[in-house]
Amino acid sequence: MVPASPVEQLVARGLLACPVCLARLVGEGPGLACAGCGRRFPVRAGIPRLLDDSLPGIAAKRHEIAGWVELARSEGWYEPEDEVDAALPFVNRDLGWDDRNWGANEHSFSLLLERHVQPGLRVLEVGAAKCWGAQHLIPRGCEYVAADILDDPNVGLGRGEFYERRVGRFARIQADGEHLPFVDGAFDLTYCVATLHHALDLGRMVRELARVTRRSGTVAALNEGTRALARSGTNPEQEPERRLGINEHVHSLPAYLWAFARAGLVVRRVEQAEGYGDLRRRRIAGALLRLPGAGRSASTLFAQCCHGYSGVSLYARRLV
Ligand SMILES: C[S@@+](CC[C@H](N)C(=O)[O-])C[C@H]1O[C@@H](n2cnc3c(N)ncnc32)[C@H](O)[C@@H]1O
Ligand SMILES: [Zn+2]
Repeated sequence: MVPASPVEQLVARGLLACPVCLARLVGEGPGLACAGCGRRFPVRAGIPRLLDDSLPGIAAKRHEIAGWVELARSEGWYEPEDEVDAALPFVNRDLGWDDRNWGANEHSFSLLLERHVQPGLRVLEVGAAKCWGAQHLIPRGCEYVAADILDDPNVGLGRGEFYERRVGRFARIQADGEHLPFVDGAFDLTYCVATLHHALDLGRMVRELARVTRRSGTVAALNEGTRALARSGTNPEQEPERRLGINEHVHSLPAYLWAFARAGLVVRRVEQAEGYGDLRRRRIAGALLRLPGAGRSASTLFAQCCHGYSGVSLYARRLV
């Protein structure tokens, strides 16, 4: 007998839900069907396609899917490189790169692995793109599920095949983080990397991350771009992305904290996404950092609220 695929296992355990009405999804021939509203969803190349035309904002999200592919082609990173993908996110550490964004992913993801990951957890990544998280979570004994709107074979969920060859099979689901197709409390740990800021409705996506996480489970948002309180929510550096239809927003740290609090999430750590090397060299943030006890929090708060554009990582626990 052929062993059930990771997606079939999710269906058998009753964890997949209709993105529109949240009733259970059941297998129907080669696809899936909703036991509530009767909608049907195809499964292509092993990936359930759970975007529905009735979802709010779907046109903007489909536009964004095309935008990522166009951006990758125009910036020369569309064709995958096995050596790079095998190192992600540790390209600075392992390949000698000096990339600020990957450095921030590296720092924030390491903290997640060290402090919140243990064998036996069921983990969901929202905005997983190529699914590089799999090569760190599966060898640590976790079940890993990847969700993204982007299903492209090179820069989206399709590239997950590369990681399946490295660490074994896992479920990949084309889904909208603002309408997650999972039952309540399905995961022990739900996280995203540089994804929340693409939500059309930030509060909605954070509530969805909280909903699909069990009580006392962990919700983390890593390396989200932030702005000082006096800066505009439209960062001029993101103009090329916006022109291609990618939904870019820059929220302040208080806006993220408010969205988490309203979703019933208790933020236990607020981290400067790239770590503290830069802040240590700044006059005020550096002095705050040296304060005994609350130095890291004071420095982060000051830098986030007063320095131009930066990035933050939040590690939270679902309370109720
Ligand atoms: C900046 S990329 C980060 C990708 C990946 N997390 C990484 O760090 O390599 C943002 C990702 O969020 C995805 N995304 C944007 N809006 C989304 C939504 N509403 N639901 C799920 N994923 C979304 C994009 O398709 C893209 O893959
Ligand atoms: Zn339904």
